Amino acid sequence: MPEKTALVTGAGRAEGLGVAVARVLAGQGHHVIVTARKDGEAEERAAELRAEGFSAEGLRLDLTDSADAARVAGHVKSRYGRLDVLINNASCMPEFDTLSMLDADIDYVRTALEVNVVGVWALVQAVAPLLEAAPAARVVNVSSGAYRQIAAGADLPQQVGAPAYSFSKYALNALTGSLAATFRDTNVLVNAVDPGRAATHPELGVDEEDRPAAESAVWMAWAATLPADGPTGGVFYDGERVA
Ligand SMILES: NC(=O)c1ccc[n+]([C@@H]2O[C@H](COP(=O)([O-])OP(=O)(O)OC[C@H]3O[C@@H](n4cnc5c(N)ncnc54)[C@H](OP(=O)(O)O)[C@@H]3O)[C@@H](O)[C@H]2O)c1
Repeated sequence: MPEKTALVTGAGRAEGLGVAVARVLAGQGHHVIVTARKDGEAEERAAELRAEGFSAEGLRLDLTDSADAARVAGHVKSRYGRLDVLINNASCMPEFDTLSMLDADIDYVRTALEVNVVGVWALVQAVAPLLEAAPAARVVNVSSGAYRQIAAGADLPQQVGAPAYSFSKYALNALTGSLAATFRDTNVLVNAVDPGRAATHPELGVDEEDRPAAESAVWMAWAATLPADGPTGGVFYDGERVA
């Protein structure tokens, strides 16, 4: 069994970035806990990783259910006593057809904030003692370039694509900074990564700008394995700080 353990949320889809980053981390010697909200999906992905020779297990984790976060944290505590890497990858989908803050479906705004921000916050609370118990824990919040459309008091375009999703990613970046400050003077570094456009939903059509999930996953894993003097509280794109 590898020494280091990494937990990835929203890793139920075989084409998704969650499994892709789990594969990179497993290849770098982590035991990976892949989680998904749908029963059975996480274990299916974990079985595929084990078939590739990696150390992996699957657990159900719905970010809207605090009992799930507590159960998963309890499992990690009893099995491993610490958590080395947390990848907050799960997210609701962008509502691509909505182009204005005024047209945003407020129920979807609530969902986006619940999954992409509150769910991350609650999970970090649940595993905080396990992160602090690790010698060099890393938290990676998977953001999106969509956050750039949102800002406080800036001169912005009138149109905002996927406003609920974009606003939630902006808030996730803010949460990242606040959590990084909270963990200051500990061994925990917290950063956000914009994975760029990756071809994870071929059913929606693939744009020529989309890259393979494995390419984005390398940079997510990079933030998950920063050295002790690495950055914290930032937003990164391919290893470059962008916010
Ligand atoms: N692909 C891109 O071009 C791109 C660009 C920028 C940012 N990102 C970010 O990258 C991350 C991964 O995206 P992806 O492209 O790989 O798409 P994805 O496979 O759809 O990943 C999102 C996953 O989150 C899961 N999820 C949704 N609600 C959840 C909940 N309440 N609890 C637990 N899991 C939940 C989804 O599960 P279900 O399958 O059950 O719905 C889905 O598997 C996301 O944070 C996304 O915002 C992606």
